[in-house]
Amino acid sequence: MAKPQPKAKDDGPRHVAIIMDGNGRWATQRGRPRLFGHQAGARRVREIVEACPDLGVDYLTVFAFSTENWKRTQSEVAGLMNLFRRYITREAKALKVNDVCVRFIGDRVRLDKKLVSMMDELEALTAHCQTVNLTIAINYGGRDEVARATKRLARDVAAGKLDPEAVDEETLPKYLDTCVLPDPDLVIRTSGEARISNFLLWQSAYAEYEFIDTLWPDFTAAEFRDVVGGFGTRDRRFGAVMA
Ligand code: IPE
Ligand code: IPE
Ligand code: MG
Repeated sequence: MAKPQPKAKDDGPRHVAIIMDGNGRWATQRGRPRLFGHQAGARRVREIVEACPDLGVDYLTVFAFSTENWKRTQSEVAGLMNLFRRYITREAKALKVNDVCVRFIGDRVRLDKKLVSMMDELEALTAHCQTVNLTIAINYGGRDEVARATKRLARDVAAGKLDPEAVDEETLPKYLDTCVLPDPDLVIRTSGEARISNFLLWQSAYAEYEFIDTLWPDFTAAEFRDVVGGFGTRDRRFGAVMA
């Protein structure tokens, strides 16, 4: 049986996921290289994380780099990887002080070893923080995640640890990168594109979506508050008929 429970109408979203899109266009509009937009975009994250506690958002998940983003030029990819390292160095202290528990999802195998060790260190540094759970998706793709999860599940079956007859809707999520997170209630995509680009495919089965025109580097805490506030006006039915 599916587990999502309908919430009261005025409940805010507990888990918000964001597809942070539009950095490249933001930079191009200013006649600057795409990386300039990525830098501005990375600076936006802190303000959004800090807005979460007052809004009752316990989990924030942000899409930073997809499994498809390797198709970009070598210089953009290298610039982004550099930016992730700089973000961790620059933000680690503030994240800890703000009691933000940081996790990374995505396949780490293709990432630079130095970056992976910095990700591990930041996770360890903030492991006991509780105010906000920030999950950063790097080299993340929903299909890739399901494929990796299925591989692990199949290994457990082959090893006799899992009975194939016992596999149900609750089984696969235990093997996903997001196994410790609740499903997102609200998925926001900036930049006017109305697609999900391989983000949290399994987990968003019953998420509400907001596609907004603002480019990510222009997305403010005030706009985030408005979008999160609008969530309370939606009827989430989960397939049932609500009174
Ligand atoms: C999102 O901004 C950031 C990443 C995908 C890394 P884009 O780089 O996709 O910006 P646009 O969509 O080209 O404007
Ligand atoms: C999705 O944005 C990935 C991230 C925001 C990290 P893209 O810009 O890569 O998605 P498409 O190519 O427009 O679908
Ligand atoms: Mg884009």
